[in-house]
Amino acid sequence: MTIIETISEMQHYADHWRQQGKTIGFVPTMGYLHEGHLSLMRLAKTRADVLVVSIYVNPTQFGANEDLDTYPRDLARDQRLLESVECDVLFLPNDAIMYPPEYRTYVTVEELTENLCGTSRPRHFRGVTTIVTKLFHCVKPHVAVFGQKDAQQALIIKRMTADLNMDVEIIIGEIVREADGVAMSSRNVYLSPAEREDARVLSQSLQKAQEAIAQGERSTATLIEMIRTMIAQKPTTTIDYVSIVETKTLHDVAQIEGEVLIALAVFVGKTRLIDNALIRV
Ligand code: PAF
Repeated sequence: MTIIETISEMQHYADHWRQQGKTIGFVPTMGYLHEGHLSLMRLAKTRADVLVVSIYVNPTQFGANEDLDTYPRDLARDQRLLESVECDVLFLPNDAIMYPPEYRTYVTVEELTENLCGTSRPRHFRGVTTIVTKLFHCVKPHVAVFGQKDAQQALIIKRMTADLNMDVEIIIGEIVREADGVAMSSRNVYLSPAEREDARVLSQSLQKAQEAIAQGERSTATLIEMIRTMIAQKPTTTIDYVSIVETKTLHDVAQIEGEVLIALAVFVGKTRLIDNALIRV
C-alpha cells in the first residue's frame, strides 16, 4: 500500500491510472476503521481496479462543542486493516494542505441538510460536502462508496454530485452491526460498559418499529412514540431526534407508505450515536 500525503502526488497517481484505463474506487473516512468501513472498501473493490482510502478528521464538519479534539485516532492499526483489504493507496492529507489560512470556499446543499442531523449540527453537512468535493478533486474517483448508517449524508452526497455534474458514481453500502445489533461506529469506543449496554436500544427500537409496521401500524406518531418510550427507559440515553421521513426529501411523514426512513440520533452518555432503518411497504 502506498501512502500519499500531498494533493499533487495524489492527483498525479489518479491521472496516471486514468491514462492507463484503470478505474478508481474511493472510500473517504475519518479513520479509526472498523468492519463497517472495511465492508465499504470491499464493495469499492468489486467496482473498480484501484482502491484509494482517505483518512482525514475534517475539522469543518465538527461543531464548536463537538469531539474534534478527542476523535479516536490509531493510524498504525488503520494501516494494518487497510492492508488486510488490499487497499492500494492511503491518502492522508492534513489541515495545512486542506484548509490553508487563505481558504474561503464551501459547498452547500440546500433543504436536505436542514432536517434530522442538520437541526442539531447546523454546519456539519456544509463541512462534509466541502471536504468530499475537495477529496474528489484529489482522488478523481470513478466510484465512491458511502455507508447507509449515515443515510442523510449519503443522500446529500448523491444530490451534490448530481447537481454539480460530478463524474463519479455514488454507491451506498449497508449498515454493518455488532452481534448485538449496535451499528458499527468509530465513536462506539467512547462508551462505558453501561452505556454500551444501553446503546443496544437504538437498533432494538428500530426493530420493534419494523415489527409494528409489519403488523399493520401506519401512524408515524404512534411509531415515534413507541421508539421514544423504549429509548427513554435506558438511564444513560438522551434523545436528540426520532423522525420518520420520506427518503428523497427527508420531509417528515404522517403515515407509513411507499419508502420511508426511520432515523434517530441519541446521546448515550456524552456520545451521540445515529442509526436508521429503511422501510418499504
Ligand atoms: O462519513 C465520514 O466518515 C465523513 O463524514 C466523511 C465522508 C469521511 C467526510 O469527512
